[in-house]
Amino acid sequence: MHQSAYRISRAQNPHDIARLLKMLNAVYRPRAMPSQGMALEFPHLFDVRNAHNLFFAEADGNPISMVGVYPQKVIIQGAELPVASIGCVCTTPDYENQGIATSILNAVFDNLSRQQIPLALISGERGLYQRLGAVAIGSLRQVTAPADLLRNLGGHLQGLGTLIVTEASPSQRAEWASSLIPFYWEKSTRFRRSTAHMKTLLQALWFVREGYDQRLFALSVEGRPVGYVVAYRSNRHPDQVAVMEWAGSLPLVLGGLFPILDLFHSETLMINLPAADPWLDSLLTALGILGREVAVQGTVRVLNKEALVTALDPLIQERHQNAIAFNQAFIMSSSKNGHQELSSQEILSRIFGQTAEDVGIPFPWTDDLNYI
Ligand SMILES: CC(C)(COP(=O)(O)OP(=O)(O)OC[C@H]1O[C@@H](n2cnc3c(N)ncnc32)[C@H](O)[C@@H]1OP(=O)(O)O)[C@@H](O)C(=O)NCCC(=O)NCCS
Repeated sequence: MHQSAYRISRAQNPHDIARLLKMLNAVYRPRAMPSQGMALEFPHLFDVRNAHNLFFAEADGNPISMVGVYPQKVIIQGAELPVASIGCVCTTPDYENQGIATSILNAVFDNLSRQQIPLALISGERGLYQRLGAVAIGSLRQVTAPADLLRNLGGHLQGLGTLIVTEASPSQRAEWASSLIPFYWEKSTRFRRSTAHMKTLLQALWFVREGYDQRLFALSVEGRPVGYVVAYRSNRHPDQVAVMEWAGSLPLVLGGLFPILDLFHSETLMINLPAADPWLDSLLTALGILGREVAVQGTVRVLNKEALVTALDPLIQERHQNAIAFNQAFIMSSSKNGHQELSSQEILSRIFGQTAEDVGIPFPWTDDLNYI
């Protein structure tokens, strides 16, 4: 193990990005060429326009640790919340356990907090993040069903029209972005995403990850698009298909799952569905499909409490009459009005928690195509 001095800086140019990718691929994708692997999977993060958001530590002229930051905007029922997605955290093996990733993360959090970014969405749950105040927030219903149950599900949904599932060929996938993105925009809780961004995402992530077979399926009824499903299978679990993102009418998406599983020739399919939806509850119960409540992928760290409450103020005000004992002043000037200040964790669970005591604002899913 080396115990060297290091300095933390931010990437500035394509040369810096290439050096970081070389280090990152060696850790995460050891078999990939430097220009492949992480560069292709996360093109927005490693775009030269995002270079200044790649923070790294350097010793003896070489990068030894990094933290990737990608600023995004989350839309929650119409309110826009700036967030910093954080991923590609890595330290080269010779320098691990010396607190280097911890000090880069602290520098990143300070920087983002000064920029008034309310939240960091961190890809990962490890102790490293939790020790720095990151917590799991939000839940979803994860359903894993075998082919025969999905076939029955399709049968229950007959009468909605003849659903056609079209698999997009890899060369034409990006061209589907403009006709499919309106279904993503309809989601009440999502990330801000342009058509150009969607085009790039359809050529990134597991679509280009070695050992993964990820595909895009467009759904249509009577020739009109009604939604889409992005699903993948990993070589390690060839019997199971997992849905990474879906959008559009839920009954029609559910009706499309059996044909999609059939196209993969796999046995079971896993999909994330809303945690609380009475229609879905009764449908799944009738079919004997058991879902389980799981936490949304990753952890969340408050960066700037005031900016968080300000961004969500319209939603907090609207719900305040029904959600007890929550107001902006309580958090923003708690020391002045004699109240005890809430910790970051308490604020997150008061805002996004779903008990009667909480404001109950839904938290976006981070496992979809925006996964950093
Ligand atoms: C995870 C990873 C980024 C950690 O990097 P690191 O520079 O070793 O991180 P740190 O030294 O700051 O912290 C590592 C551990 O040492 C502890 N530590 C912190 N400061 C320390 C210090 N001065 N001395 C000794 N240990 C320290 C931390 O609490 C942390 O504990 P944890 O393992 O329970 O989380 C690195 O091991 C790695 O690249 N792993 C492979 C890729 C990966 O899994 N990335 C994360 C994806 S979520």
